Parts: sequence; structure tokens; C-alpha cells
Amino acid sequence: MSIQVYIDGEFYAKEEAKISVYDHGLLYGDGVFEGIRSYCGTVFRMKEHLDRLWDSAKAIAIEIPMTKEAMGDAIYATLKQNNFTDAYIRLVVTRGVGDLGLNPMNCKTPSVIIITDKIQLYPTEYYEDGMELVTASTVRIHPMSISPRVKSLNYLNNIMAKLEGLKAGCVEALMTNVRGEVAECTGDNIFIVKRGRLLTPPVDAGILEGVTRNFVIELAKREGVEVCEVPLTKYDMYVADECFLTGTAAEAVPITKLDGRTIGDGRPGPITKKLLDCFRKEVRCK
Ligand SMILES: Cc1ncc(COP(=O)(O)O)c(C=O)c1O
Repeated sequence: MSIQVYIDGEFYAKEEAKISVYDHGLLYGDGVFEGIRSYCGTVFRMKEHLDRLWDSAKAIAIEIPMTKEAMGDAIYATLKQNNFTDAYIRLVVTRGVGDLGLNPMNCKTPSVIIITDKIQLYPTEYYEDGMELVTASTVRIHPMSISPRVKSLNYLNNIMAKLEGLKAGCVEALMTNVRGEVAECTGDNIFIVKRGRLLTPPVDAGILEGVTRNFVIELAKREGVEVCEVPLTKYDMYVADECFLTGTAAEAVPITKLDGRTIGDGRPGPITKKLLDCFRKEVRCK
């Protein structure tokens, strides 16, 4: 049977799951979204994801037309419709149907879409041998324009950087902010290890505050690793002992090369491996 997609309280087969061409989510990228995972039938960090979705929506003046509790129930109902226990969940809230002008006030009701599908993971080799990154010339959007903390439907900034990465043979790319500091990757947060300390850019470096990022910070502290949220430069990246990315789909993936330069000894480092191991133990079926 086809994947069933939730749109505004109804389920539709994937092929029939459609929205209006007048929806401002399509016309202007006016809306917000979340990428979530379920492991063994439990939605991972649902509260954190729903809080971020509600904050993203509030930041761009969209009122989500349901409660967080009802959204949680709708997520579980969508998983159940599809018999999924381990899945990727995409929540989308669009501004809704309006006219061809920009005016969001002409859009009466936001639409809520829930798509569940099989999770697409990075290949196993990346976790065992590490992955390579390049720095994109496309700079992460200025927080005074649209805050990168808003997970909006307008991902062109990230897509342009991703394209640069792909053209250079890398599936992810590092983005800097307008000050030239390290921000994040196109769909993942970034960490380095230097002399046993775990370092990551602070939220005001202009990043999305990743749910996985925050979880990994918690795990590291629990394991007795000192964690510092500090501005980082390309220098810090090049002289790092270890580097890894975090994200809902990636979990934690080691980075062993950046801009053609070897990071550390060119192998996934011990702290990276330990945190990835702790992560898996926490989320996988007990
Ligand atoms: C730009 C960006 N940064 C970081 C992340 C990682 O966030 P999370 O761990 O919540 O998936 C994502 C993924 O959603 C992202 O799109």
C-alpha cells in the first residue's frame, strides 16, 4: 500500500497528497518545518521538535491551528497508518492558501502536513572511515534578515551551499557566518575536539539550534567531556584533533577532511566514536 500522508486532519495516499498552487508555502517558501525520527515506535525528542516548530512559526507570525498535544497524536496516528516504527517524520506548516500577492494576511488558515517515510542514512563507510567536507562560499543568512533559528520552508541559502559541496564531490558543506566564523553545515551542526574538549559554535553564530546537537552536548557532559560553545574559525577547524556533524538523519558522523586538509590523523577520533556509540545505545531498541 502507498504511504499515507496527513494533510489537515485527513489521510491521503502519497500520489494523491496535494496542496493548492496558491499556498504561500509553495509560492514564497512561507512556512516552517521539522525533521524528526522515530526509533522503535517512539518519537525521538518530540517535545524539543514541537517546541522548535512552534517557535519557528511564532517567529514568522504563523499560528499553528492545533495544539502541540494534538500534533503529537497526529504524528503517532500517521506512523500507525503506515505501520512504521523506525521512520523519518517531516512536519510542514504552510502559511496556507492566499492570492498571488505576498500579503500573508490574505492566507486564512495554515496547512499542516505530516509525511512519514523510511529513513535515508549516510552510507556506513562515512561512520567507519569519516566523511569529507568543503567550505562553501555561500555565507549563512544574516540573523538580522531571517534568523537561522527559524526552520523555514525557505532553504535556498542552504541549498546553494549544498550545491557547492556536491560540485566539489562532498555531500555536505561547511558554512560560515557574515563575520567569517564557522556556523554549521547545510543540514547538520558541527563539532570539533581539541585537546580533549568538545567545541561547537554558539547559537548566536547564526545556526539552527539542532535537537541532536543539544542531545550530544548532554551525552558528552554525562561522559565527563568538557563542552564549550565558542566562536570557531577555519583555523580551529584545520588544527582540530577530531570533527563530527550532528543531525536528525545523520545522528553523529565523523569528518576526516575539510577543504582537502586532513583533520587529526585522518581517522574518526576516540571522542567522536564514543559519543556516536552512546547516541546509538540511547536511541536504539532496548
Ligand atoms: C541548517 C540545519 N542545521 C542543523 C540541523 C540539525 O538539526 P537537528 O539535529 O534538529 O536535526 C538541521 C536539520 O534539521 C538543519 O537543517
